[in-house]
Amino acid sequence: MNSVFGLIEQLRKSPHKMQQNYEEAMALYSLVLSRKPQNILEIGVRNGGSAILMAHALDHLQEEHVVVNRTIDAVDANGEIPESKWSHLARNRINLIRKNSPEGVPVKQYDLIHIDGNHNTKHVLADLNAAMRCCDVDSRIILHDANFPGVIEALEAFEISHAQAHVHYKWTVRTDREDNWGGQALITFKRRT
Ligand SMILES: C[S@@+](CC[C@H](N)C(=O)[O-])C[C@H]1O[C@@H](n2cnc3c(N)ncnc32)[C@H](O)[C@@H]1O
Repeated sequence: MNSVFGLIEQLRKSPHKMQQNYEEAMALYSLVLSRKPQNILEIGVRNGGSAILMAHALDHLQEEHVVVNRTIDAVDANGEIPESKWSHLARNRINLIRKNSPEGVPVKQYDLIHIDGNHNTKHVLADLNAAMRCCDVDSRIILHDANFPGVIEALEAFEISHAQAHVHYKWTVRTDREDNWGGQALITFKRRT
């Protein structure tokens, strides 16, 4: 696989059926390239589309000798990453934890957290709170389906109760979906002055 566009095209097809569109996938891939995270957490894996995308970004960083052996903990009781032609490195980077959030979220610090699990308000808030326990001021949280009403409601409640967090999102229109799901929110943290 020599282009990220080709990779995204592959991941959007069966068996992975990644939910991210091109722009969202590029944003996620670019975030990994720019942040060079030591470790990544994903909540909501399904068939591994977004996890594999992030694993390939880690491969890319390793090929350029920027990082070594960085990993992804991927939490989903129903997650199943199909065996296929994904590179040895990408597959070995993903530690699939077959449990649900918040119980299955390891107690450790992550540099980057991708949330794409249950989209009901109460579950998104539980995922966000579990993610917050794993963050420091330099961590980043990226949330998929930020257009979905349950996710919007959770983000609004989260913003009110976490003054140290800066939530970047906006209602976007996805022309590839009639239901207009999709959209991303990025959460960064304010430094104390
Ligand atoms: C939209 S899919 C994830 C898609 C994947 N991120 C991708 O881009 O290909 C949502 C997944 O969240 C999982 N899920 C639902 N509730 C969850 C929870 N509490 N913790 C972890 N995963 C959950 C479901 O099993 C499903 O596989």
